[in-house]
Amino acid sequence: MARKPRQHVNPLSAAYLAPRAQPVERPPHLPPDAPCDVELGCAEGAFSFALATAHPDRLVVGLEIRSALVERNRMRARRLGLANLVFGYVNLQVDLHRVFEPASVDRFHLLFPDPWFKTRHGKRRVVSPYLLRTMATQLRPGGEVHVASDVFEVALEAMEAFEGPMGEALGFRSLSPRGPWTFVRENPYGVASRREEITRARGQRVWRVRYGWSPPGDDPP
Ligand SMILES: C[S@@+](CC[C@H](N)C(=O)[O-])C[C@H]1O[C@@H](n2cnc3c(N)ncnc32)[C@H](O)[C@@H]1O
Repeated sequence: MARKPRQHVNPLSAAYLAPRAQPVERPPHLPPDAPCDVELGCAEGAFSFALATAHPDRLVVGLEIRSALVERNRMRARRLGLANLVFGYVNLQVDLHRVFEPASVDRFHLLFPDPWFKTRHGKRRVVSPYLLRTMATQLRPGGEVHVASDVFEVALEAMEAFEGPMGEALGFRSLSPRGPWTFVRENPYGVASRREEITRARGQRVWRVRYGWSPPGDDPP
């Protein structure tokens, strides 16, 4: 009988700190410049499956720390014949830099990330300096980052990270229609993650931010 995936893992525990994520294998039928969307912390991958189904011309990559879910998602993608959908292991605090070449990703989606793991050093931010720097390296010019959460503080921390001095110096800028330091009301991607569906069904607010990226010093496209 298939083992039930664990509900949570602690990404800062010793077992998860050794880098072991593998470079993503791009499906050979897609051209190297095919747009690439990445869901970070995809769990069972509802957003990734829906996006890959709606856009067969795009490469969609779901990354997750729970290996049992990675395996389960891979089998489901094969069963559904979704050749443009790839899943892999990552610890977002440790080894995302091993997964993608520089300038090869068009969109990162960080959807309903787990808020914090408490350590004796205190609370940890979801969007760490490591994650910010890695995304800035792996995005193509004109690429973007999409973060959504049902926890206001998590979305606010993401906003501070991307719109604060470090995010600005790395080349991020707000894509909110109402300007910098504001949340984005609408989901412009046409598909929603499982947690977004649940949050909306409960009548709760989704706190969303979106950032464009261009090399620092360049004019935004
Ligand atoms: C609350 S779920 C959200 C799943 C999905 N994105 C959604 O919106 O429905 C957060 C997911 O992030 C994964 N996760 C948490 N910390 C992670 C890390 N450091 N690296 C990779 N995945 C992580 C968890 O295992 C979990 O599956």
